[in-house]
Amino acid sequence: MTAPVRVALIGAGTMGSHHARVIAQSPRAELALLVDPRQAVGTEVAERFGAEWAPELPDLAEIDAVVVAAATEAHYELAVRVLNDDTALLIEKPVADSLAKTREIVALAETRDLPLVCGLLERYNPAVMTARALIEHPLHITAARHSPYAPRIRTGVAWDLLVHDVDLAINLIGSAPTSVESRLGYFHPDSAESAEDVAETLLGFGDGAIAQVSASRIGQRKIRQLSINEAERLIEVDLLRRDVTVYHHVSENLVDEGRGYRQQTVIEIPELVTSQEPLTTQFSHFLDLVEGTSDAAAERATILPPHEVIDAAIAKTGRG
Ligand SMILES: NC(=O)c1ccc[n+]([C@@H]2O[C@H](COP(=O)([O-])OP(=O)(O)OC[C@H]3O[C@@H](n4cnc5c(N)ncnc54)[C@H](O)[C@@H]3O)[C@@H](O)[C@H]2O)c1
Repeated sequence: MTAPVRVALIGAGTMGSHHARVIAQSPRAELALLVDPRQAVGTEVAERFGAEWAPELPDLAEIDAVVVAAATEAHYELAVRVLNDDTALLIEKPVADSLAKTREIVALAETRDLPLVCGLLERYNPAVMTARALIEHPLHITAARHSPYAPRIRTGVAWDLLVHDVDLAINLIGSAPTSVESRLGYFHPDSAESAEDVAETLLGFGDGAIAQVSASRIGQRKIRQLSINEAERLIEVDLLRRDVTVYHHVSENLVDEGRGYRQQTVIEIPELVTSQEPLTTQFSHFLDLVEGTSDAAAERATILPPHEVIDAAIAKTGRG
């Protein structure tokens, strides 16, 4: 049996404490170190999962891989440090707070041929994985990711929410979009001035496919829905409830002398391909890359496209 991968986790906040649990539970890894400048939070999480705590990143000689779940503003400096130390990196999304910095980080990982994973977690949602196994030729995708307001999040919804569904659309269609149109809305009085609360984005793809992606944080309930239309079927995914329904239209006719409508549709509810927690599947994929059993170059190539689309979606629109 190979020795467990020794992991340092940076950031013990909301996402960091989930990563800590998943790393500590993995039989293939050891949570060796937890880094967070906030001593009370850092030591509490470190103790809970049997790790050492440090206020800042020490020498990485004893570490095989790093997970960064610190605040996005801190990502760039941490990522450069880790990659320059020739250490594999799983970094929360977005990779950095600007596209230029994200490009630099991906390029550095490429130059050093290091595993780099971005926490685009919805790729590992069991319902998404099930839909992906079913689809053949998607033509039209719609996605809605709406939430009640969360004052904790200071960035706009494009980097926070839209990036997930843009990433899914790219993955499902199988290429980056060739056109990006967007409209942003600024509504909430507590939001930073340049941080949008609503983003409506339309993506056009080379093969003619279209995706319409909607993100909002002025909703009254959490909605996470994805509809994938092919020529002969509709695959509906509820990412929150984690279920998939496939519809195939058979026939329709008018009834009651034209006052009513009857439709016949075949509905199929497939069994999910996995029930594993997305963070666990993502971490296991990262370990495959660290151990060299999965293709690091292919993984790195998936990171920039969604970041480029979000940058374009923000850049191309004015206020209102
Ligand atoms: N993949 C997802 O679905 C998802 C969901 C939520 C958040 N995120 C991402 O996770 C990251 C963290 O978000 P969060 O909601 O957990 O934030 P948070 O504010 O709860 O936690 C951030 C933690 O990072 C620590 N920190 C700040 N600077 C640091 C530094 N230089 N070194 C070490 N630690 C530092 C803070 O002390 C804090 O404990 C963000 O990049 C965010 O975009 C991803």
